[in-house]
Amino acid sequence: MNLFSLLFCCYFVSVYATTVSGLNSDGLALLSLLSRWNSVPTSMTSSWNSSDSTPCSWLGIKCDYRSHSVVSLNLSGYGISGPLGPEIWRLKQLKTIDLNTNEFSGEIPSQLGNCSLLEYLDLSTNSFTGGIPDSFKYLQNLQTLSLFSNSLSGEIPESLFQNWGLQVLYLDTNRFNGSFPRSVGNLTELLELSLYSNQLSGPIPESIGNCRKLQSLTLSYNKLIGSLPESLTNLESLVDLSVGQNNLEGRIPLGFCKCKNLEKLDLSFNSFSGGLPPDLGNCSSLATFAIVHSNLTGTIPSSFGQLKKLSHLDLSENRLSGRIPPELGNCKSLTVLNLYTNKLEGKIPSELGG
Ligand SMILES: *[C@@H]1O[C@H](CO)[C@@H](O)[C@H](O)[C@H]1NC(C)=O
Ligand SMILES: *[C@@H]1O[C@H](CO)[C@@H](O)[C@H](O)[C@H]1NC(C)=O
Ligand SMILES: *[C@@H]1O[C@H](CO)[C@@H](O)[C@H](O)[C@H]1NC(C)=O
Ligand SMILES: *[C@@H]1O[C@H](CO)[C@@H](O)[C@H](O)[C@H]1NC(C)=O
Ligand SMILES: *[C@@H]1O[C@H](CO)[C@@H](O)[C@H](O)[C@H]1NC(C)=O
Ligand SMILES: *[C@@H]1O[C@H](CO)[C@@H](O)[C@H](O)[C@H]1NC(C)=O
Ligand SMILES: *[C@@H]1O[C@H](CO)[C@@H](O)[C@H](O)[C@H]1NC(C)=O
Repeated sequence: MNLFSLLFCCYFVSVYATTVSGLNSDGLALLSLLSRWNSVPTSMTSSWNSSDSTPCSWLGIKCDYRSHSVVSLNLSGYGISGPLGPEIWRLKQLKTIDLNTNEFSGEIPSQLGNCSLLEYLDLSTNSFTGGIPDSFKYLQNLQTLSLFSNSLSGEIPESLFQNWGLQVLYLDTNRFNGSFPRSVGNLTELLELSLYSNQLSGPIPESIGNCRKLQSLTLSYNKLIGSLPESLTNLESLVDLSVGQNNLEGRIPLGFCKCKNLEKLDLSFNSFSGGLPPDLGNCSSLATFAIVHSNLTGTIPSSFGQLKKLSHLDLSENRLSGRIPPELGNCKSLTVLNLYTNKLEGKIPSELGG
């Protein structure tokens, strides 16, 4: 074949291809993803029409209106099963992927790391297995990564914490093991970190104190050891701190004057030494406060009477002693008070309706 007929041949093939399918390349990429899926709702199959020239009007799709490139893929709650194909990388302009609450299975394709404009990735409540691809470190624009309620396993890669813009990271309710990566302290924009219900071991890294904007830190139901890092006292924005059902020990360092935003504190089912820090009375927003079955000794500080918003206080199954402070009666919002299985004396203060 000479050069001329080769060129002619290519020309002919490309004309032929556009005549048969005028669909742009993002549309073709979506159709090859679709070809792998089962139990797709008919509303979707009839909408994803290969005769269209762009996928921009398809169910679950949003495009950039000038380039007709797909910027958002949202199939949340469609009941789709099957793998998420590697073709996903061909959707290069994607900023949002929301596939939560489906039955996607298999591994998360490493090719997702090539969708470098991604800001929002939600694969939660599916049946994904395997690990978090190392290629996620290339997602430098990522702000939200939500992978909770899957069957993901292995270690949480240190490299994930190179995504410095991450604000929301939900990895809870999976089978992650290994240690809690020390590089978490690199995520200075982090607002919410949820790792509960995994099999993480080792200590909570001291570097967590660098995540100055952190509002919610939930680490319950793991196998974490060591003490609560002192650096937690740096986290002035913290609203929810839940580390129950671990193997933590040592003294409780909280109660710093910086805990003004703290509304929920759950340290239950650990093995602390020492007692309740009186300075916890400074956490003036505290509403739910539980340290059940955690080997606490000493008395209940009267400063807890300063907690005007406190509605749930559960200190049961410890070794607390002394009087129940009458000042607790100042906590006008208190509706649940559990102190059973301790060595407390005296009666429930009448202010509490006892
Ligand atoms: C797809 O679009 C073509 C052209 O607009 C139309 O004739 C056809 O009925 C559509 N198919 C479905 C399944 O809606
Ligand atoms: C995806 O769509 C659902 C409802 O259809 C909506 O509630 C959700 O906010 C959307 N996700 C994103 C990231 O916009
Ligand atoms: C995906 O990204 C990797 C790493 O940046 C690169 O080596 C690879 O060539 C990319 N693949 C495609 C198909 O763009
Ligand atoms: C984590 O789990 C994997 C299996 O998923 C296992 O091979 C590995 O040894 C475990 N690592 C640790 C530190 O427990
Ligand atoms: C990221 O974290 C690692 C481990 O803590 C550390 O060695 C590295 O210096 C950090 N990088 C930056 C830029 O803070
Ligand atoms: C319980 O607390 C006591 C004193 O505060 C401490 O000596 C002991 O080691 C703790 N027990 C456990 C199992 O951590
Ligand atoms: C509360 O914080 C202040 C500093 O702002 C400190 O002096 C005081 O001892 C703390 N504890 C209590 C129980 O008020």
